[in-house]
Amino acid sequence: MNIIAGNFKANLTRAQVASYTAQLDSSLDSFLDSQSAQNTLPRVYLFPSSTALLDNTFKHFRIGAQNAHFANSGGFTGEIGLSQLQEFHLSSIIIGHSERRGIFNESQDFINQKFRFYAQAGFEIFYCIGEDLKTRQQGQKALGDFLESQLSGIDTSYSKLIVAYEPIWAIGTGESASVEQIESTHTMLASLTSAPLLYGGSVNEKNAHEILSIPHVNGVLVGSASLKVENFTQIIQAGFSPSL
Ligand code: PGA
Repeated sequence: MNIIAGNFKANLTRAQVASYTAQLDSSLDSFLDSQSAQNTLPRVYLFPSSTALLDNTFKHFRIGAQNAHFANSGGFTGEIGLSQLQEFHLSSIIIGHSERRGIFNESQDFINQKFRFYAQAGFEIFYCIGEDLKTRQQGQKALGDFLESQLSGIDTSYSKLIVAYEPIWAIGTGESASVEQIESTHTMLASLTSAPLLYGGSVNEKNAHEILSIPHVNGVLVGSASLKVENFTQIIQAGFSPSL
């Protein structure tokens, strides 16, 4: 079953997320009603900003956290911890996103601590890896070594692990990686872990079906194109397609 996840980043307000989620649940209801066979939807996740987190009470998708510190609570100005996530009954989190690694300087060691803490708490972990353009241009060996280094210290057999491959050069650029690039990278990743493998980086309602048809792609992590509920609904429908 495909996994379709939307990462809102620092976009959409609490009020906007409230109306988005209500609309998504009801449009997925109508979509399911319109299907003749009793097929199931892909597993769908939404990751709103911390101020827009909502209780996990939706019918067709789960809410997760984009980030949290590896503590229950305490002196961590600007952060939220496990206790704040539990208040919303959340049990999914993104760890290792390139924006956390790059802009917020999260080291592999720091990310390891986050991973261990949230794995211990039984969370589903959307663990992101991805190279910059310079690394990609150095060839397959450099690419493989780099992606492996971003997995170092992570328990790749953790049962609730989901790995998202997101090449930095394809994030927010409108230009996704090519089918060949995604296929060869995911094939390599599949030899390192049996976790579901998502692709992320300029996925949209037009390219979702093609990307979801690539071998070893088990879903997508979507940024910009998840911000409009109509577009995200189409991406979910691409993940549903019985021809896959
Ligand atoms: P994008 O972002 O879809 O806007 O490229 C993907 C991500 O950062 O998860």
